[in-house]
Amino acid sequence: MKNPIKDIENNKPIEHELSAPIIETLGISKVYRIGSTMVSPVTDVTLQVGYGELVIIFGPSGAGKSTLISMLMGLEKPDVGEVFFKGMSLYNYTDEQRTVIRLKKISYLPQAQYWIDNLGIVDNVALPLLLQGWSKSRARTKAKEYLTKVGISPDLKQSPDQLSSGQQQKVALARALIKDPWIIFADEPTAHLDSKSVDEVAKILVDTAEKQKITIVMVTHDLSFLKLSKKWLFMQDGRLWNIEDKKNPFTDIKQVIDYIDLQKEKERED
Ligand SMILES: Nc1ncnc2c1ncn2[C@@H]1O[C@H](COP(=O)(O)OP(=O)(O)O)[C@@H](O)[C@H]1O
Ligand SMILES: [Mg+2]
Repeated sequence: MKNPIKDIENNKPIEHELSAPIIETLGISKVYRIGSTMVSPVTDVTLQVGYGELVIIFGPSGAGKSTLISMLMGLEKPDVGEVFFKGMSLYNYTDEQRTVIRLKKISYLPQAQYWIDNLGIVDNVALPLLLQGWSKSRARTKAKEYLTKVGISPDLKQSPDQLSSGQQQKVALARALIKDPWIIFADEPTAHLDSKSVDEVAKILVDTAEKQKITIVMVTHDLSFLKLSKKWLFMQDGRLWNIEDKKNPFTDIKQVIDYIDLQKEKERED
C-alpha cells in the first residue's frame, strides 16, 4: 500500500488530485444493535467532496449527521461500504496511520470546545503543531499569528474557558486552521453563538479556507454558512439527499429556508 505518511509530508495536493474528490464514500451504512433491535443512523450514503469545496449538511436531530462525520474522519468504520480519502480506502490504513493522517491533515471543529487545563490561549492553539514535533517557540509564534488572524489578542491572560463562547469558537478556529489542514470537519460549530458571532466565525472560516484551499464539511443550520455554500446536503433518517437532486424531500430553496427557521424555533424552545 502507498505510504500515507510520505504522501502527507508532501503537503499540498498535486495538480491532478485537485479535480478528484478528497473524500468519497460508496454506499456506507452504520448499524448498532440495541438489545434485540437494530438501529441504522447512517444508511447507504454515497457522497463526493471535491478539493476546496464547502459542503453543508443539515437535517433534524438524530438524523445521523454526527455519525456520518465520524465515519468520514476515520474514527468509526462503516459496517457496509467504503470511505476513500484522496483515492485511498481510509479503513485499509491501520489505526495508527489514520491517527497520523488526522494529526497532520484533518481538523475537527465541534459545537463545544475542549481545552487543555493549565494552558493559556496561545499554547492551546499551538498544540496541533507541538504534537507534530514543532519547537515550542516556532509553534507559539505561529499560534499568535493565527490568533491575530481570527481577531483574538494573543496577549489575553485568561484561559480559553474564561472567554465568551464567541471568543472561544474563534480560538478553536485558530487551532483548527493552524496546521493548514486539507479538510475541516465541523459539527454544528456555531450552535451556541449569538448571531453576530455566527457571522464573524462564518466569515473567518470560509475566507481562510478559500485562501488556504481547505475543504470544509460542516453540519449546520446557520444561514450565514448556507448563504456561502453552493453544495447543500439534507440528512433525514440516516439518508443523505442532495438539495439539487429531484428525489430530495425539498423541491426548492424556499422550503429549505422555512425548514431551517422551524429548526431554529425548536432550538429556542428547548
Ligand atoms: N454508539 C451508538 N450506539 C447506538 N446508537 C447510536 C450510537 N451513535 C449514534 N446512535 C444513534 O444514531 C442516531 C443518529 O445519531 P447522530 O449521528 O448523533 O445524529 P445527529 O448528529 O444528526 O443528531 C441516534 O438515534 C443515535 O441515538
Ligand atoms: Mg449531531
